[in-house]
Formats: sequence, C-alpha cells, structure tokens
Amino acid sequence: MDYGKLLMEAIKARENAYIPYSKFPVGAAVLTKSGRVYRGCNIECASYGGTNCAERTAIFKAVSEGEREFEAIAVAGDLSTYTYPCGICRQVIVEYGKDIKIIVGKSEEDYKLYTIDELLPHSFSPEDLK
Ligand code: THU
Repeated sequence: MDYGKLLMEAIKARENAYIPYSKFPVGAAVLTKSGRVYRGCNIECASYGGTNCAERTAIFKAVSEGEREFEAIAVAGDLSTYTYPCGICRQVIVEYGKDIKIIVGKSEEDYKLYTIDELLPHSFSPEDLK
C-alpha cells in the first residue's frame, strides 16, 4: 500500500473521532509489515486525562491483535495543515522500532514523510533497556 492510500485510511478513521470537548477530529492508520491496516481515532473523556489520541488508538488496536512490526503510520487532523503526533504518541511509536515511517498530511497527494528519529531525536527506547 502506498503512503497516500494509507493517509486516506487515516482520513476515513477521523470520521469516528469522539471529540465532545476539543471538537478536533484526528484519524490514524497503521500499516503492519504483514500488510494489514488498523485504523484509530481520538477518543476523549470528561476526565480529560483519559483521552486517547488517534495514533495510540490505532497502535493499541494492532498490538492487542498480536501485531508488533509496523511499516508506517499515517495521521490526519486539521486537513488544511499537517497535524503531527504528540510527544506521548511519538514515544509509543518508538516502542515498536525505529524503522517506522510517519506520514502527516492533508490528502492522498499532499503529505510529508518522516522517520521517528526525525520526530523524536535521542529517544529513550527499548534498546536502552538491553
Ligand atoms: N490528538 C490526537 O489524536 N493526535 C495528535 O497527534 C494530536 C492531538 C487529539 C487529542 C485530543 O482529542 C485533540 O486531538 C485535541 O488535542
């Protein structure tokens, strides 16, 4: 699957965002190395700290189904600009390896591609515990 198509999965996931407080919908789609796609949206909570970002929803759905190896994750928020993963989500992404690609974008044709090292340099990761 190409990255533009993965971003379109994130844009579709965004439709399910549960956002009564921020009204800011975000969607994410994670592509596993085996070729499966798991979608996620942000899910807010009246106790605000209970909120889960779209990226973590997608990754946790995949991990809970047994997936551990990821090729890429696409994120779509405000589609007039590029929405980047928050710090907590960057830390969760690096948990599963440093070769994952991160796609942020507005449409199938308009997106940017990053490595996790670019978004979270000098990270603390599982490698440090070995
Ligand atoms: N949000 C995400 O889902 N992903 C991000 O990378 C940035 C922030 C959500 C959390 C909250 O529901 C809303 O966007 C506003 O912060």
